[in-house]
Amino acid sequence: MAEKGYKPPTEIAAPATRLFATAARGTEGALRDELRELGFRAVRAERGGVHFGGELAEGARACLELRTAIRVLYRLDAFPAPDGNALYEGVKAIDWRPYLTAQHTLFVRSVCRDSRLSHSQFIAQKTKDAIVDQLRELTGARPSVDRADPDLTLFVHVVRDVCSVYLDLAGESLHRRGYRAQAMEAPLKESLAAAILRLSGWDRRSPLVDPMCGSGTIPIEAVLWARQIAPGLLRDRFGLERWACHDEAMRKGMVDLREAAFARILPASPEIAGSDIDPAALAVATENARVAGVKVTWSQKSVADLAPLSPPGLVITNPPYGERLAGGDELFAAMATAMLALHGHRIAILAGSPAIARAFHHDAAQSLAVYNGDIECRLLILTPG
Ligand SMILES: C[S@@+](CC[C@H](N)C(=O)[O-])C[C@H]1O[C@@H](n2cnc3c(N)ncnc32)[C@H](O)[C@@H]1O
Repeated sequence: MAEKGYKPPTEIAAPATRLFATAARGTEGALRDELRELGFRAVRAERGGVHFGGELAEGARACLELRTAIRVLYRLDAFPAPDGNALYEGVKAIDWRPYLTAQHTLFVRSVCRDSRLSHSQFIAQKTKDAIVDQLRELTGARPSVDRADPDLTLFVHVVRDVCSVYLDLAGESLHRRGYRAQAMEAPLKESLAAAILRLSGWDRRSPLVDPMCGSGTIPIEAVLWARQIAPGLLRDRFGLERWACHDEAMRKGMVDLREAAFARILPASPEIAGSDIDPAALAVATENARVAGVKVTWSQKSVADLAPLSPPGLVITNPPYGERLAGGDELFAAMATAMLALHGHRIAILAGSPAIARAFHHDAAQSLAVYNGDIECRLLILTPG
């Protein structure tokens, strides 16, 4: 099944590296920088994500540590697939026993482009048939399909008649950290919040406030980053921990990775705050921060009453926009007035409407295109003098 909004890596014929982390469009540079900082090698960004080097152990570390990635994929094989038969034979030539037994479940997602095979559903079906036929022939029993919570998720990309078969190492999307017990309307994905924090140029030492914090995603991600809390520590397990080959040695590898990540956690962050006009949003934000185990100072107030941080720091937010918002221009004008008075601060706004840039008189030093799902937004960065 084609995943909504999911774009395959464009260069798949024979990349030198097997690992590919996906990211929201416009945030690939943030993910590239994050991978480099974390010491991954052969890092190369392209539209939709970043290639990097290593085998499954590096992929597991990426799942645990990456804040801005959505998925981590491992390329098992690539082969010509001009028709259904070639696809079936190519998939069946891969040994699936390390990943699946008859007791496991699987799900295949597929995308295709510029190819004779042009139906993603057909590609997913053929791939699944080849896998289950192989296992039935070799073991006498076959795994079943589970769309909701599979043990193994595969991504199959057919681009220009070449099929690439990827294992999804993370399982559930990495943006689901596990702390969001409840969400308000239009919450930011955690991975996107982490990406805009990085793109904003925050130094992780200055204070930070989100004055329209909703369910609190940006302040919570800010504390996690400032304290070097690996986001994967909040999750019970990743997809690869459910595979057939996940033996004692791999279990020990994951334990070691988690212990090393715990050892790097810093005891405190700079002052990080969130405010919102809506008390219901603040109740959700407070609960989410509690589940994440981080300290944020929450308060109920309007963005119009935004006060300077001491010392000056980062004001970062994603304001409401779209049909749900009545009187948008008035709110944006009040927001711009309050923010532009904050001399010495850095302002970063994920703007989903051109009216927001207008309210700031198009004064942003940077305006970066960043996609929030299918919506093209602008990350406006200003430094009022
Ligand atoms: C798009 S949501 C923010 C979502 C948030 N980033 C999250 O991840 O949940 C915008 C928020 O702005 C808040 N808001 C609207 N008008 C406001 C105002 N005048 N002052 C402060 N907050 C306001 C809304 O209550 C809403 O929670």
